[in-house]
Amino acid sequence: MNTSVTHKLNFYQGHNPIDLIAAYGSPLYVYNEKIFRQRCRDMTNLTTYPHFKVNYAIKANTNLTLLGIAIEEGLCADVSSPGEAVAALAAGFAPSDLFFIANNISAEEMAFAMERGILLSVDSVSQLETYGKLNPGGEIALRFNGGIGGGHHENVITGGDETKFGIRAVYIPEVKALLTKYGLKLKGINHHFGSQNSKELYLEGVEELLSIARHFDSLEFIDFGGGFSIPYNKQGGEAPMDFVVLGQSLTKYMESFSKECGKPLTYIVEPGRYISAECGVLLGTVHSIKENGGNKFAGTDLGFSVLARTTLYESHHDIEVYGSPRDGEYSPTNIVGNQCESGDYIAKSRLLPPLSEGDILGILDAGAYGYSMSSQYNHRPRPAEVLIREDGSLQLIRRRDTYEDMLINML
Ligand code: LLP
Repeated sequence: MNTSVTHKLNFYQGHNPIDLIAAYGSPLYVYNEKIFRQRCRDMTNLTTYPHFKVNYAIKANTNLTLLGIAIEEGLCADVSSPGEAVAALAAGFAPSDLFFIANNISAEEMAFAMERGILLSVDSVSQLETYGKLNPGGEIALRFNGGIGGGHHENVITGGDETKFGIRAVYIPEVKALLTKYGLKLKGINHHFGSQNSKELYLEGVEELLSIARHFDSLEFIDFGGGFSIPYNKQGGEAPMDFVVLGQSLTKYMESFSKECGKPLTYIVEPGRYISAECGVLLGTVHSIKENGGNKFAGTDLGFSVLARTTLYESHHDIEVYGSPRDGEYSPTNIVGNQCESGDYIAKSRLLPPLSEGDILGILDAGAYGYSMSSQYNHRPRPAEVLIREDGSLQLIRRRDTYEDMLINML
């Protein structure tokens, strides 16, 4: 497979990635507003069912400017921590537009959500008891784990017996007893079993959650979770999920379940990466070329402190090389970073044209779980983020950390 050096240039709307690096420094996250908005619209138009909400899982990318655009596009948000709630509120989401999907949180964190009027979902019988003691007579939601799990790596599967998430259906009697004991109103149920590209598996999950919903009369909403992946290996021919067919099937499930319940329930989906992955490219610079025992290494400033997914989950990201077309055979090349760890790689044995020091690489589809999972390991500053606006203008939406930033909290 030939790694095209040009097909993604549309992404930059006339800007040259090499100039972007010169202007904002390397490495650099670059986002495209048009693509972000289009992905929001793909989701809000998923179904014709009228009581439908798209809760953007902001853990994928919490940049306040992007969150502001999501609000303009009519999205609500799923938050998983008080910090994410603070970011969502700062971006302008109303508390009633937020759903705090918690896992193993403290009573203080529960109180944080209650005080701000953010509905909380807890995912164990033990957390339900803690909440009941804290807020008798209150409203709550529950995350169930129907048994299905999905995802491209075991560390991203969030359903089934091997994961820590959700309440298994066998605990429904205990759940009901606690709801009664504390006079809690169960407003909704949710699940999220992991992200993958099979609409059949997603719909299996929908059926599983609806069968759990049949145990509860008080529900106002059912949240089918996230799980819409994107084709990360487009250069290898990977295709996106068929959202037209998925949307039609979802509409049928939602209409018929509401009819069965005799009330117009609200249904929610929680895309994270689908909204923000494809609008983002991570740019970086090659600083070193070497061979160790026949293995080629291109050493870059794209360490796992900048993009952790490849190291953590062996995730695939397509790569582009920018600059003038070059002569020479494509050959398997390891793209590695600058952290002091041997697991620090962006791609293994990727077929790439000859690279040299100073080359600029684009790591594609890096807008989700890219910056949001970055760190300051090795005291490397996290990169800046730049947005290409719809009209083609550039906006710096997060500045690069300074070395002083990294010292500031130490007393
Ligand atoms: N809803 C809940 C409750 C979640 O926990 C997640 C993601 C989502 C929705 C959105 O899932 P998405 O559609 O974005 O996959 N860092 C990993 C992914 C971890 C996902 C955690 N939960 C990665 O880079 O692949």
